[in-house]
Amino acid sequence: MKSYNEYLSMVNDAIHAIDYPKQPAQLYEPIIYTMNLGGKRVRPVLTLMACEALGGAPEKALDAAVGIELFHNFTLLHDDVMDHADVRRGQPTVHRRWNDNVAILCGDAMFTLATQHVQRVDDRHLPQAIRLFNRTAIEIMEGQQWDMDFELRHDVTEAEYIEMIRLKTSVLLGCACEMGAIIADASDEDRHAIYDMAMYMGLAFQLQDDMLDVWGDPATFGKEVGGDIMNNKKTFLLIHAQERAQGDDALELRRWLNDPYAMRDQKYPAVRAIYERLELRELSEQVIARYNTMALDALNRINLSDEAHQTFANLIAQLTNREK
Ligand code: IPE
Ligand code: IPE
Ligand code: MG
Ligand code: MG
Ligand code: MG
Repeated sequence: MKSYNEYLSMVNDAIHAIDYPKQPAQLYEPIIYTMNLGGKRVRPVLTLMACEALGGAPEKALDAAVGIELFHNFTLLHDDVMDHADVRRGQPTVHRRWNDNVAILCGDAMFTLATQHVQRVDDRHLPQAIRLFNRTAIEIMEGQQWDMDFELRHDVTEAEYIEMIRLKTSVLLGCACEMGAIIADASDEDRHAIYDMAMYMGLAFQLQDDMLDVWGDPATFGKEVGGDIMNNKKTFLLIHAQERAQGDDALELRRWLNDPYAMRDQKYPAVRAIYERLELRELSEQVIARYNTMALDALNRINLSDEAHQTFANLIAQLTNREK
């Protein structure tokens, strides 16, 4: 097995080698801009790791891995329009640097380029790979729609939130791992277990992202903080705040949720303070630890060398200790 950074350089080399047409510049420049801004590349690294851990050559999974990263970056372009987000990976988002139309069309093109990359897997694995990829894509769109629907509702339950983040975030980590397993010709048992491992990892990953949106350092996180609070996103934190808040806290929270003209420099610190008074950071950390344990349980069901087992166990721990 290689280290995270070794898989990362394989992915980065392949991403930098993509040959985009020059014209129309307004279509391809923002795609190059986005793909070159980096990011953690967790999903393509998982594809290569899963493939090698299950006995395949990671090089064989490289095109599919790049396709999954292109797809992920497409979802970010559209997500930033939907979430009114101005900064990503420390730089202006595409819809801010260019405009909404550019972000929409570049996203569409990236989805198509993503499919073209996944389609380069060898013929024997192609039907299974494409079925997995397309099923995942539509699930993510369902998750994103629930996320938008929930902004307008005030009675979202924890179970609904978990299902929403399973769809918008977890299934792509699951797909990344299962793709590597397919290309490695892994057994059905191993393929399902590695999907489950990544799925629980993804739930912890999104819970951590939601915490960083409140308590992260924008310089490290690369995104503006407070966006979820401004958008009334029904995160784990807000759902539990609505449940736990009493007296003045309950009144204040309701007032912020119902004030469409609230200013960021007032609403964000006020809601954050309510979360802190209700000790929701601690509660969130407990739930993250629970999903990490579930990911480790699934990991234990996969037939892996000790080295491969350790590589995934380390990644599970690192992703929820991250600051970005
Ligand atoms: C951001 O994904 C979207 C979420 C699912 C939280 P990442 O945190 O993987 O973003 P990058 O690709 O590293 O920038
Ligand atoms: C993103 O969730 C999920 C997808 C892009 C599919 P978020 O909206 O929390 O992601 P960030 O925080 O903007 O990266
Ligand atoms: Mg967002
Ligand atoms: Mg979003
Ligand atoms: Mg977020």
